[in-house]
Amino acid sequence: MITKTEQIKKDITTIARFQSKKGRGCNRFSYTPAFRQAADYIAEEMKKAGLTVRENAVGAILGTLQGEQPELAPVVSGSHLDSVPEGGNFDGIAGICAALEAARAFHDAGIRPRRSFCCIAIPEEEGPQFGSGLFGSRAMCGQLYDDEIHRFRNAQGQSIAEVLTAYGKNPEKIASEMIHKGDWAAFLELHIEQGPVLDREHLELGIVEAIVGLKYYFVTIKGISNHAGATPMTMRADTVLAMANAVSAGADTALTLGDGTVFTTGMIQTHPGAGNIIPDKTVFSIDCRSRNMNSIETVMKAVKASLETSKKQNSGLSYTIEERLHADPVEMDQSLQSLLETQTQLLHIPYKRMCSGAGHDTMVFNHLMPTAMIFVPSRDGRSHVPEEWTDYRYIQQGAEVLYQTLRHLTAQ
Ligand code: GLV
Ligand code: MN
Ligand code: MN
Repeated sequence: MITKTEQIKKDITTIARFQSKKGRGCNRFSYTPAFRQAADYIAEEMKKAGLTVRENAVGAILGTLQGEQPELAPVVSGSHLDSVPEGGNFDGIAGICAALEAARAFHDAGIRPRRSFCCIAIPEEEGPQFGSGLFGSRAMCGQLYDDEIHRFRNAQGQSIAEVLTAYGKNPEKIASEMIHKGDWAAFLELHIEQGPVLDREHLELGIVEAIVGLKYYFVTIKGISNHAGATPMTMRADTVLAMANAVSAGADTALTLGDGTVFTTGMIQTHPGAGNIIPDKTVFSIDCRSRNMNSIETVMKAVKASLETSKKQNSGLSYTIEERLHADPVEMDQSLQSLLETQTQLLHIPYKRMCSGAGHDTMVFNHLMPTAMIFVPSRDGRSHVPEEWTDYRYIQQGAEVLYQTLRHLTAQ
């Protein structure tokens, strides 16, 4: 094999040192000084691998190996550079390092492909910072909500536009730098599986067939605050109680559907947030995913029905539901899957074809070009936690499959 395990390990462990805050696990949030350090490290390594490096309007790092026919659309590979709070060191980073290692392999072999190859490190995929997700790729592909960069704000109240400007970017340029159909020939992303399938089945690689659809919402319930002891149970407009019923209704519906639909409430804020005051405001998140968008709609109908019931029973209650992210389920390109499969078989790597339950930038790029994903095993199926771990050897094998496939695609 041409790609090197030691180099991938060095990149991943180096990037793991760049942390936005001290604490458990990986905390590398887009556009913070630690994110800048990580981006600068990637840019330097890209340059060493002979790539021409630029940073776009949303802070993605793009390193290009110019092909013999630069007028042909490039083949692009990479992943995201940010992490969730208290996450792991492999989510996103593994895919950037695999693409970087593929670039080094081209460089070391002195190969100038016919078509350009571009390695990319994408910002702000995860979403908790601004209460959304897939921001970097959606911005690059013209899929932002109206006024999103001014409306969506972090915990400090800063808008995405303000944070980007402080990072030295000009948000006004996002539109003019957008990519269109035909600009990129294909996008390939290596990623950790983030689930237990490969690990349990003792397989070393997954070829992704499809990615589930997802919707993300913020629900705000308003009620009336009052004394926790002196207000009878029949005389309350308790926003937390309304939230608890709505969350139960959503989760129960997902379970009853039995088609793999999942429902999560991971963020809850109550106001005023004191133990002896009935809360007059609760804001909570709903993350619902399924292969079937109708199932997500069914779950959301149950949530709304529950909120309506709470409203009827408590005249002081009202609520709003705000959609913060919508990504349809996507199928990976058949011929790219076959190419990945051929390379995997040639390298005798035990593998399977599978579906992704997690969201990825690939699902955004998929609207503009053929896409494919390589999964590598997550130990014990753990991800978005400090315990997240993938053997470097598996990442290297995946990087080798990626490199061989890129060689093929850039020769066309
Ligand atoms: C990204 O990790 C997501 O699926 O939420
Ligand atoms: Mn990821
Ligand atoms: Mn993630």
